[in-house]
Amino acid sequence: MKQVTLKDKTFGISYPENEIQADIDVLASKINWDFHASEETPIFLSILNGAFMFTADLVKRVSFPCQISFIKLSSYKGTKSTGNVNELIGLNENIEGRSVIIVEDIVDTGITLSKLFAELSKLNPKVIKVATLLYKPDAYKGTIPIDYIGKSIPNEFIVGYGLDYDGIGRNLPDIYTLISE
Ligand code: IMP
Ligand code: MG
Repeated sequence: MKQVTLKDKTFGISYPENEIQADIDVLASKINWDFHASEETPIFLSILNGAFMFTADLVKRVSFPCQISFIKLSSYKGTKSTGNVNELIGLNENIEGRSVIIVEDIVDTGITLSKLFAELSKLNPKVIKVATLLYKPDAYKGTIPIDYIGKSIPNEFIVGYGLDYDGIGRNLPDIYTLISE
């Protein structure tokens, strides 16, 4: 089995590039079908850093006019009374009344997604759809429906194709799963 070692951990290939690309084909077809008759210009919001590679491969297959923007959700400690505050960084477009498609690398517990959803909802978009390459159903604690899923995977740590282990591994074209030590 093809393996990579990143720092102190070894990972084995679990989702090869050709399968990733085939699943993105299917996912993109669904998005194209849902939006082909739309008279507006939907906006894809790619969540950095992890979704950069998936976003590039996905939007190449999108067949309707669209905008693409890259955002980050950072959380910082607010005042004692407010606790953790989430801030959307990098959103310069007005999304009011528009169709927004969140592009995520992976939905794990769903905490990130629910925060994002809440922040974006405040800006009154027409609709928010969610596209994720990977989904861990056994880890998901959220309630937000995930509209487009590339592949559901077990609750294991993975790396590659945008996803990192301690900052490295994002450049790998295939996805690897941690081999238990
Ligand atoms: P969530 O908030 O638990 O759904 O996950 C948030 C973020 O954690 C994802 O967008 C990823 O950046 C990261 N993440 C979750 N699972 C993995 C994994 O298996 N490998 C690498 N990063 C992950
Ligand atoms: Mg992410």
